[in-house]
Amino acid sequence: MRRDQQPSGGIHPLLAGRFSPSRFDPSATVDDHAVGLLLEAARWAPSAGNSQPWGFFLSRPGEPEHERVVRHLAPSSARWATDAGLLVVALTRRHVDETQLLYSEFADYDLGQAVAHMTVQAQAMGLAAHQFRAFDLEGLTKDLDPSPGWAIISMIALGRAAEEPPASRDRRAIADLLSAPWSLSG
Ligand SMILES: Cc1cc2nc3c(=O)[nH]c(=O)nc-3n(C[C@H](O)[C@H](O)[C@H](O)COP(=O)(O)O)c2cc1C
Repeated sequence: MRRDQQPSGGIHPLLAGRFSPSRFDPSATVDDHAVGLLLEAARWAPSAGNSQPWGFFLSRPGEPEHERVVRHLAPSSARWATDAGLLVVALTRRHVDETQLLYSEFADYDLGQAVAHMTVQAQAMGLAAHQFRAFDLEGLTKDLDPSPGWAIISMIALGRAAEEPPASRDRRAIADLLSAPWSLSG
């Protein structure tokens, strides 16, 4: 692992500037217009066979849905996610209704692309996004009770970052991206 890195010049500033903050400004709200644009960005993501297997549950501080979601956060994510102007629960359609038949082999992959679109759109709007899995999946699933075939995969906290990107960030080297799949030593 190469340490003390920053994105090199040349990639788009929206990508280079993105990071997952661990502090959000609790006074920064995410209004309906912004929510609409974030969902519109996700809507236009590519997906296998245009299956669009994604779905979202949204909540903002002060809304009854927010407390419904926040109570399932793990202590590690509650520290910062609670202050974010918008909490998004990301779901994918894995199976066809009650059957074990796959709705799409690429359901999780495609949800990831939709969320990536959402995070880049957020960045373009001056908002930051922190995706996370630190919540009680079983409890949240019981509470939100998605339709058969749908699975909660992750959550995204979105809002105005209340900190700068860390001075040092870790990323694997480009050479490793190209060689690792064939490296016997791992
Ligand atoms: C699917 C997924 C799950 C994640 N789960 C957590 C989490 O539970 N807690 C956390 O603090 N960050 C979580 N993250 C954020 C990553 O730790 C973060 O993206 C990574 O360290 C790279 O940092 P950066 O986004 O600032 O570049 C998650 C990210 C993804 C995509």
